[in-house]
Amino acid sequence: MRPFGAPEGDLEDSSRTVRPFGGFSALMKRRRMTRAFSPRPVEPELLDSLLDTARRVPSAGNSQGFDFLILSTSEAIERYWSTTFRPEARAGFEWQQLFEAPVLVVIYADSAAYVSRYSEPDKVRTGLGEGPQAWATPYWLVDASMAALALQLAAIDAGLGVLFFGVFDHADAVASEFGVPSHREVVGTVAIGYAADTGGGDVVSAGRSSVRARRDLEEVVHRNNW
Ligand SMILES: Cc1cc2nc3c(=O)[nH]c(=O)nc-3n(C[C@H](O)[C@H](O)[C@H](O)COP(=O)(O)O)c2cc1C
Repeated sequence: MRPFGAPEGDLEDSSRTVRPFGGFSALMKRRRMTRAFSPRPVEPELLDSLLDTARRVPSAGNSQGFDFLILSTSEAIERYWSTTFRPEARAGFEWQQLFEAPVLVVIYADSAAYVSRYSEPDKVRTGLGEGPQAWATPYWLVDASMAALALQLAAIDAGLGVLFFGVFDHADAVASEFGVPSHREVVGTVAIGYAADTGGGDVVSAGRSSVRARRDLEEVVHRNNW
């Protein structure tokens, strides 16, 4: 049974390709960030299907105020790295094979889409159409983050590696380099590609934080009271 059958014309579901982890829970238990990529290109149809999956996340008021800036030519990727790294920092960077990633997706959130949506008749009584300052939680960042995660999980499910990383204090420089409209907030960048063969040594691509133990379920969960 297919309770949510895709309407005709939708992009091919990427999950039908490789699916190295099988089901969703197994994927979540085993997925890790990848910091060493092979230069092997990501097939354009596969990339499109991942983006198509990612745009289907839930969003407040169905505002969908997120955008994906796709860098998938070597020239565009070089522009990204030279905008965000000084040459000496780049030469000394710990994860050199991150620079091999054939796709970078910079994810942006658009508060104006939310303010506009919540000014519509069915939402106006919330007062959230008055401006971003009226929002206790900036849902544009929540929704764009959901899209970022969906993109990563779809890519991993299709047999690719990903790294989500921060843009830090290069946000203005990246926006200006790639013509991003003003007032878009950057959420982060997702590098996507096939993982490099690190000879079975995940250590080559493991981040420093990866040695931190996962918090126990009972430490994270607060049942009926904190
Ligand atoms: C919001 C966010 C920002 C991150 N920023 C970086 C980053 O700038 N550089 C990096 O190498 N990893 C970054 N990571 C990856 C984390 O270090 C990684 O997810 C964490 O150590 C757990 O490892 P795992 O995802 O492999 O389980 C970031 C992850 C998130 C969710």
